[in-house]
Amino acid sequence: MPLERVRILLGVCGGIAAYKAAELVRRLRDAGADVRVVMTENAMRFVGATTFQALSGNPVRSSLWDESAEAAMGHIELARWAEQILIAPASADFMARVVHGRANDLLSTLVLATAAPVSIAPAMNQQMWANTATQDNVSLLRNRGIRVIPPASGSQACGEVGEGRMPEAEALVSALADSCAPRVLDGIRVMVSAGPTYEDIDPVRFIGNRSSGRMGFAVAIAAAQAGAKVTLVSGPVSLPTPPGVERVNVRSARQMRDAVLRISVDSDIFISAAAVGDYRVQASSAIKLKKTGAPLVLELVQNPDILAEVAASQEPPFLVGFAAETNDVERYARDKLERKNLDMIAANQVGPELGFEGSENALLLLWQGGSEDLGRGDKKMLARTLIERVATRYRLKAEKGFKA
Ligand code: C5P
Repeated sequence: MPLERVRILLGVCGGIAAYKAAELVRRLRDAGADVRVVMTENAMRFVGATTFQALSGNPVRSSLWDESAEAAMGHIELARWAEQILIAPASADFMARVVHGRANDLLSTLVLATAAPVSIAPAMNQQMWANTATQDNVSLLRNRGIRVIPPASGSQACGEVGEGRMPEAEALVSALADSCAPRVLDGIRVMVSAGPTYEDIDPVRFIGNRSSGRMGFAVAIAAAQAGAKVTLVSGPVSLPTPPGVERVNVRSARQMRDAVLRISVDSDIFISAAAVGDYRVQASSAIKLKKTGAPLVLELVQNPDILAEVAASQEPPFLVGFAAETNDVERYARDKLERKNLDMIAANQVGPELGFEGSENALLLLWQGGSEDLGRGDKKMLARTLIERVATRYRLKAEKGFKA
């Protein structure tokens, strides 16, 4: 877990979204982080310090002039203690103060005194957010290397609708984990396949599947964040290309096969997260098929097994497959691991709200002689853990000279 034992200083400013920071503390702790909370004076008008103290398990600080707190941990020590600073919610006033280098309360002083990366999640009324003064401050903060996590859109506590809501705790934890990812795949060339394949019936119809591509894209993002050089071979999905990732778009299984085999020779690791169509229409029609009143019979032929072909190649990369199953997950997955000659397989149960279309998944990792249940969680979080495990087993295999 990327946030395991990471020392996070959470700054809470005065705003109605301060109540969401309580959930954020819980999520950060669930992710393994060590959390200390610093509140501004105004934040305490919205939520009591006791709430944060109980949730973080640490005393809450708010004043520069609290002698007993300074005796336990001075503000400079606190600034040094933090490995990451997250301000959520950050008010418009707080950002303005940081822009001007003010140190007129504990939180602004800490931001000035720390060498740790600072992330800010602004939350405010949509007009205040849209105001040029606020937007100019955001640009200035970004130019100085402060990460500003943009607010979400929706209905606001003030009754207005627009951009200015603090993102949900889970999204903030995920954003923070991104910047903490250890570079376990530095310089390693990773190919990831993702999404469904479409097999044309005629120029307007196709056979596809329900894969959204989200798991594969999350794996590509996690690999890039771990320092890998990533090529993402994607079937038809509506997802943006992750930053720093080279994307190759394909449509059919055969197009995916050609791209994967071409890129595979220059890859150290291949993670096959695509839901490749097992069958295609033998002879797709060049013109649109018409209704005839009679039953339509389509002859389907089996598609090549891309992963098995890569495994059978001369010097295959380290191979990670996915196995989506509705039942007997472990048994089928272990069978695939062996039959397809893979180094690792990530098995998942597909069912309501799990697997294909949702944002959550549940993964069970299997390899020769071992297994680890990663449990259920957000696809981005699971992807990060998966990448860490892949890196470990890849290194073990590399040490053995790839003979295993
Ligand atoms: O056999 P099954 O489709 O369940 O295997 C799943 C794994 O094999 C996935 O990693 C998938 O990307 C890969 N696969 C493939 N080519 C196919 C079918 C599956 O590469 N034609």
